Amino acid sequence: MAQGLPSFKPEAAYPKTLAEIDLASQPRLLLEDGEMMRVLDGGIVPGSLILLGGEPGIGKSTLLLQLALSLRGTVLYVSGEESEQQVKLRAERLQGSNEAFYLLAETSLEAVIAHAQQLMPQLLIVDSVQTLYMNAVESAPGSVAQVRECAASLMRFAKDTGVTVVLVGHVNKEGMIAGPKVLEHMVDVVLEFEGDRHLQYRIVRSVKNRFGATPELGIYEMSGGGLKQVPNPSLLFLSSSGGKFSGLATAATLEGHRTLLVETQALVTDAAFGTPQRSATGFDLRRLNMLLAVLERKAGIRIGTKDVFVNLTGGIRIEDTALDLALLASIVSSLYDVTLHSNTCFAAEVSLTGELRPVARLEQRIAEAQKLGFEQMIVAKAGALPPAHSGIKVHAVSKLEECFKLIFG
Ligand code: TYD
Ligand code: MG
Repeated sequence: MAQGLPSFKPEAAYPKTLAEIDLASQPRLLLEDGEMMRVLDGGIVPGSLILLGGEPGIGKSTLLLQLALSLRGTVLYVSGEESEQQVKLRAERLQGSNEAFYLLAETSLEAVIAHAQQLMPQLLIVDSVQTLYMNAVESAPGSVAQVRECAASLMRFAKDTGVTVVLVGHVNKEGMIAGPKVLEHMVDVVLEFEGDRHLQYRIVRSVKNRFGATPELGIYEMSGGGLKQVPNPSLLFLSSSGGKFSGLATAATLEGHRTLLVETQALVTDAAFGTPQRSATGFDLRRLNMLLAVLERKAGIRIGTKDVFVNLTGGIRIEDTALDLALLASIVSSLYDVTLHSNTCFAAEVSLTGELRPVARLEQRIAEAQKLGFEQMIVAKAGALPPAHSGIKVHAVSKLEECFKLIFG
């Protein structure tokens, strides 16, 4: 470890019983931004180290500046990438004014810590960790050694002083080896900022949180005046062409505590070359291959010689297995070129035996589907069904074949 940094600890630690440890002394820092509150599962824990990763240009600086300007408390924003003037210009586009917002254009870690010790802000934002360097480490800024040592020093600073530190980390498409990935084990919270730069919406996803549940999603739209919260996010992931074309189906998925209706799109064609191609965007390719095998063997649908492409509308990434049934429905719809009714929503996992398996929090999913005007929902029979909902008909089905009979006749 690098030498030369002072210890920030006011007093030495000693062994304590659990009863001696006082939790009440550290209330969470509450944020005005409801999406961020959701992602952090109830606010910022003092003294924590948070990493916000994402591709360049996605909106990390905008999000944090916005957060800092809406906070009631002292913030030190260290910008290693943009000049004071650039940050000020950006701040003028955003809402919020925090009189105790301080900006520091600096890349020397020793200097950053010295200023932070003097100011003792509630929040120290470092944008980005790749621009920082420590004199004691010989390699260049942005190298694994620099990134790791700078983050370790900032972590000690956070733990010893109770100042929350947020690190911005750039992630590039090729891989994140020299970037934020090397820090993930070290920090308390890892947030990933994602979305298509060409589309308006952005998602902040908590992938690690030592103080709360994961994965939680925050959904924003990038506007001329910064990031805006999205009141009805499900609409982002549904196209307006449901019911008009084959190959589309809607699933009620759950990410963290949030229900999202997501449209799956499939295109099935005769394989042009020997080996059929399979491609999945927003969905695990291995799971797609497994589901295609189930379709062939358990539902008797010949798909082995076809190219299969699947995609989730809006470019979202979903891991919830409740998507399985909708995905297969969209594939079969494309294969036979039969359009699915746009009033139908799916929520069931598909097992290797071709049976449908129940998914968590079905009631919440049904409620969201109903809210968005879906009239029927196809779920697994095996689970306990929630009480009947008015306005939406719930079909409980036990097998894939049965489901296809119901929807394709
Ligand atoms: P930025 O926060 O600089 O991204 P990062 O820090 O992740 O590299 O976001 C830059 C993009 O956001 C840029 O293309 C301009 C756009 N933007 C808006 O559309 N509206 C705004 O109010 C702001 C501040 C930025
Ligand atoms: Mg930036």
